[in-house]
Amino acid sequence: METNSAEGCSSGRLCYFVAASQILGLAAVIMTGVWLGHYEGGFAWDGSSHQFNVHPLCMVIGMVFLYGDAILVYRTFKNERKTTVKVLHASIHLIALVAIIVGLVAVFKFHEAQSIPNMYSLHSWCGLSTIILFCLQWVVGLVFFLFPGMSYSLRVSYHPYHMYFGLGLFILAIGTCLTGITEKLLFSISDIYSRFQPEGILANVLGLLLVCFGFVVGYILTRSEWKRPASSEEEALSLHFKTLTEGGSPDSPQSQ
Ligand code: HEM
Repeated sequence: METNSAEGCSSGRLCYFVAASQILGLAAVIMTGVWLGHYEGGFAWDGSSHQFNVHPLCMVIGMVFLYGDAILVYRTFKNERKTTVKVLHASIHLIALVAIIVGLVAVFKFHEAQSIPNMYSLHSWCGLSTIILFCLQWVVGLVFFLFPGMSYSLRVSYHPYHMYFGLGLFILAIGTCLTGITEKLLFSISDIYSRFQPEGILANVLGLLLVCFGFVVGYILTRSEWKRPASSEEEALSLHFKTLTEGGSPDSPQSQ
């Protein structure tokens, strides 16, 4: 028996899946810290390889863990007021954005200090595309969903695109992390990677954890029975909008 759509994450299977996603996400963050802290010499802001280490940690925290959690709030807190959840969703994205900027500055400054060329790899191309699209998605989402003057009909028509690009970017972020992990391993342990050394195994497991986190978040998002129930006001507006778009006899002209 599935979780009743009126229940939040207080009971039922949804709660177990959300808990599993948090365990996987936190394990990935901790494993990134252990990899770079223990095997790669730790963290610093001095232009050395220790500064580079800030990059993967911030990216896993911001672009994967926090981003995934920001998407999940609509399922985890589905019975809270919609405005509260929207603000929480935008705020977690904002914190993620701070982590992403710190991580990006860390790697560019490291390249500058070591005279390494910028933006030559597939990883860096995917990475920058992810970040630019992430920023666009955040700004456009803010305008459509939090700007009070935006019409309901425009919000409704943009919503599927926001969901599609949100999930697509999340997948792209995880793929980018996988290429970054492989690249880093080939830079630092290329001569012993094929000998199943602990560092290589740990980083491979990290990659798998990120993939599992992505699958669990994706599963939660795509279950229709765990979607947020529409409020009676939303249902009424949606019916009205349907009448307008399907050429019925609206009481008032459509406001676009
Ligand atoms: C979605 C998350 C990530 C994004 C958006 C991202 C983005 C970027 C960007 C834009 C660069 C280019 C910097 C420059 O050219 O100066 C870069 C470099 C690099 N990143 Fe990431 N990164 C992410 C995650 C990771 C992870 C998890 C690792 C794992 C260690 C990693 C490893 C590297 C390495 C080794 C470089 C330097 C070589 C290169 O430019 O490709 N990245 N990253």
